[in-house]
Amino acid sequence: MKEKNSLYLLVASVVAALGGLLFGFDTAVISGTTPFIQPYFHLSDVGLGWTVSSLLVGCIVGVTLSGKPGDLFGRRNTLRAAALVFVVSAAGSALAARLWVFITFRFFGGIAVGTASMLSPMYISEISPGERRGALVSLNQLAIVIGILIAFFTNYLLVGTGGDNWRWMLSVMGLPALLFFVALFFVPESPRWLVQKRKIDDAFKVLSKISGDESANHELAEIEKSIASEDAGTYRDVFSKELRPILVIGMLLAFFQQMTGINSIMYYAPIIFQKIGNGTNSAFIQTVAVGAVNLIFTLVSLRLIDRWGRKPLLIVGAIGMIVSLLVMSGAFFLKHFEGYLILVFILVFIASFAVSIGPVAWVVIAEIFPNRLRSKAMSVAIVTLWTFTFLVSLTFPVVLDRLGGGAAFGIFGVMCILLLIYVIFRLPETKGKSLEELERILVHK
Ligand code: BGC
Repeated sequence: MKEKNSLYLLVASVVAALGGLLFGFDTAVISGTTPFIQPYFHLSDVGLGWTVSSLLVGCIVGVTLSGKPGDLFGRRNTLRAAALVFVVSAAGSALAARLWVFITFRFFGGIAVGTASMLSPMYISEISPGERRGALVSLNQLAIVIGILIAFFTNYLLVGTGGDNWRWMLSVMGLPALLFFVALFFVPESPRWLVQKRKIDDAFKVLSKISGDESANHELAEIEKSIASEDAGTYRDVFSKELRPILVIGMLLAFFQQMTGINSIMYYAPIIFQKIGNGTNSAFIQTVAVGAVNLIFTLVSLRLIDRWGRKPLLIVGAIGMIVSLLVMSGAFFLKHFEGYLILVFILVFIASFAVSIGPVAWVVIAEIFPNRLRSKAMSVAIVTLWTFTFLVSLTFPVVLDRLGGGAAFGIFGVMCILLLIYVIFRLPETKGKSLEELERILVHK
């Protein structure tokens, strides 16, 4: 591929991945604000739980709602709308003087996160040639991780700015959200969507800019064959017998990604560190270590995903997660926390997640569904993902408190064993093939 075209593709993917950055930021920023919004809004523990979760409820709604505009108005226009909602939500939640106003704007932020979590990987998957798709879609995961790090870091910097500190923390997101909105004017629309809308000339232009005229002609013919009509299909088609096996792949990967327990570690790491007796001061450093390892191993995954394939990464990662979770579970049962044992195994866990199901779940969900049904089928898989994000974040503190860390990490460890078995025996490899080839292999077997 020519340098210039490669750059064009990379820039478009990076712009779309800004949606991932906002997703990461918005989900993580709240953790630093809780000590301040709880007294400000006079919240009980349960009230705080719901206030924090309002974003996740918005995500589920956002994913459910965004498939339709994504098909009608295009991936790019819908992402632009989401960017504006991000701006409004940042401003509204930062300025809120009443609880219902705060919750409402966080809920709208959730709608934007849900929309971006679906359309950013979808868009990248639809503009990428098969042999680079894994790495480019993983840019979205890289951006999520960077967004989480930015949130943790800006929270840390702003914590000492006085009573309005939480307002500043929440408002930080406004800037990247504006940048996202503007940058989306400089990227092309998805060629697969353009074909669906019978804008064949425009689709050809985008494809030839990315892969050259010859390849574009071939790809266009393939896409046109796979999208025989403008009709985007119905949910009945998504749940049809023909599509069901693929839908199950998407939903299971979404389910397993969350049942590894990633978010209980990402968001409750400081509490876990305190529970095992490390000082609060070092808790911050440890949280930064978690972020850094997450970032580094996402980069490793990006290098390997199109070379090794999706399955080998999932297998290596699942083994790493099983070992680290079971060791942590054992340590909690035996109350044997000496030294930095737990920290080391938490980092092994994060590295294993970041190299495998973190990025791979999003990549596979964005590539396995046929062109005509992609929006709707992806939305079913991603709603599953957000539902389990919600359930795990809501129940983890209770499980930790009532049953203890041994049981909590033990459950996640068993889930990773099931993931490993599933990947080895059932999951098809999807590396290197165009979306249309995958459609032939997976749907029209
Ligand atoms: C997951 C998030 C998680 C993040 C952590 C994403 O792929 O969907 O739930 O917080 O990775 O890096």
